[in-house]
Amino acid sequence: MDNLPRLIDRLEQNQVLNKEDFIRLIEKHTPDTDEYLFQKADRLRQENYGNEIYIRGLIELTNYCKNDCIYCGIRRSNRNAQRYRLEPEDIMECCRTGYELGFRTFVLQGGEDGWYTDEKVCQILTAIKKDYPDCAVTLSLGERSRESYQAWFDAGADRYLLRHETATPEHYAKLHPPELSLARRMECLHNLKEIGYQTGCGFMVGSPFQTAHHLAQDLLYIHELQPQMVGIGPFIPHHDTPFAKKPAGTVEDTLFYLAIIRLMLPKVLLPATTALGTIDPNGREKGVHAGANVIMPNLSPLSVRKKYMLYDNKISTGEEAAESVTLLKKRMEAIGCQVIIGRGDYKK
Ligand code: 5AD
Repeated sequence: MDNLPRLIDRLEQNQVLNKEDFIRLIEKHTPDTDEYLFQKADRLRQENYGNEIYIRGLIELTNYCKNDCIYCGIRRSNRNAQRYRLEPEDIMECCRTGYELGFRTFVLQGGEDGWYTDEKVCQILTAIKKDYPDCAVTLSLGERSRESYQAWFDAGADRYLLRHETATPEHYAKLHPPELSLARRMECLHNLKEIGYQTGCGFMVGSPFQTAHHLAQDLLYIHELQPQMVGIGPFIPHHDTPFAKKPAGTVEDTLFYLAIIRLMLPKVLLPATTALGTIDPNGREKGVHAGANVIMPNLSPLSVRKKYMLYDNKISTGEEAAESVTLLKKRMEAIGCQVIIGRGDYKK
């Protein structure tokens, strides 16, 4: 019958299940079996990373976006978004602040904004690497040509985050406008990995129309890609999008998928995301206990933080922000963890 603990044991052992078994786990898990899963995930995190938690300073470069993803608050057809973009000098200022606070990875994230040409991004990368040779740079700038990715890698970028969002083409089509495709997204991820980036994919938990089949497909895709990072967080509706009235994903479901991913990829860099922190004030701690080992506080200039609103009520000041790193350290120490000053690379 449905012996879920044995299924979880098998997942830990083989780092994958077949689709039917993934669906069974997704449909049948209970708070009790989750507890069993979280213990394993927490232990695997400790076996691979000890008590170390890595922090990344998130710099939100631009909320201009040429795309029109149905779920996203900075989609191009949202006329109410106040658009901004950071100049290279602004970005360098963020890095200066971040370095002093102890950050050794800077994540440059933004909408797909043509203002940031290949040359401009290379110029920014060169400047950061010159002033902070001991730091890693992660890019999260969406879909670009292989040539662009290669140029940025050659200019010093170390990592790239590009969530696949959903690994089922029909579901992808319900979340995105017709000009975007899952095939193209997967091609980008493949290129990034081949070029040599530490690569991250990921998906939203509880996105509209999502089913257990879709989630099982996401897990199988993650197993196939073998990314070094996986970003997952709950879907949260944004009032200026067509999904304004759709329900948000839950904390419990998000923790469940974090833990499953830790079992599938024991060494993965797994953030407890801002979205998780947004729906639960203890989201970060809970995430760590479900296997997460990365936190990405906001390092964007205060003047733009409220404008990078991917979803409603996105936290941007207070304890999740980079300025509060002392508080974050204390909170992590309270659960037996230690925030590390260092690049926090993937451990092969
Ligand atoms: N809720 C949660 N996450 C969202 N993202 C975009 N919009 C939302 C939303 N409404 C996520 C996407 C994207 C990442 C930058 O933010 O997964 O890849």
